[in-house]
Amino acid sequence: MSAKLAIFVSGSGSNCENIIKYFAGNKEVEISIVVSNKPDAYALTRAHNLNVKTSIITAQQLREDQKLVLSTIEGCNWIILAGFLPKVPQYLIDLFPNRIINIHPSLLPKFGGKGMWGHHVHEAVKAAGETETGITIHYVNANLDEGQQIAQFKTQLTPEDTPDTIADKVHVLEMAHFPVVLEEVFKKG
Ligand code: GRF
Repeated sequence: MSAKLAIFVSGSGSNCENIIKYFAGNKEVEISIVVSNKPDAYALTRAHNLNVKTSIITAQQLREDQKLVLSTIEGCNWIILAGFLPKVPQYLIDLFPNRIINIHPSLLPKFGGKGMWGHHVHEAVKAAGETETGITIHYVNANLDEGQQIAQFKTQLTPEDTPDTIADKVHVLEMAHFPVVLEEVFKKG
């Protein structure tokens, strides 16, 4: 079965753009829609520029308006979280078992959970004096950042690294690996 993706975003959308470009021309993988909970997310502009349909669903609508959410992502068989901040509601997890995938910018279980997103993660990694960090691609379950892991990729850190340079190193891993791992997962069905 071919993959039809709904990509959920909240922010800049560099991962979203990278995924759209990676699968362009791939007959087995279609980006059906990009859904943002933030009307001003730059990810929406990126999707628009790449001719991908977009929609805004607020965090409250996501929790409370199941009908709206399901009609927006109708026909999709995968949900990809690419920098999406709201908690995924249980009804979506139940309807998409092992079909919601998230990317987290640390080596989970380290630096995961509530409040651990974006720069907060890289600041915590720096403060802890870690010698390595990385990314975790994982299925989404009811507990934030605790779903079954699909893949991790590491990068080495030096004492000179700052939260900004850590973010840059993690970003390189995200760009190189996220779409490739998704493609492998989709191939397995
Ligand atoms: C990425 O670091 C991703 O790992 C995390 O949020 C960030 C999103 O960046 N979940 P972008 O919006 O894809 O540029």
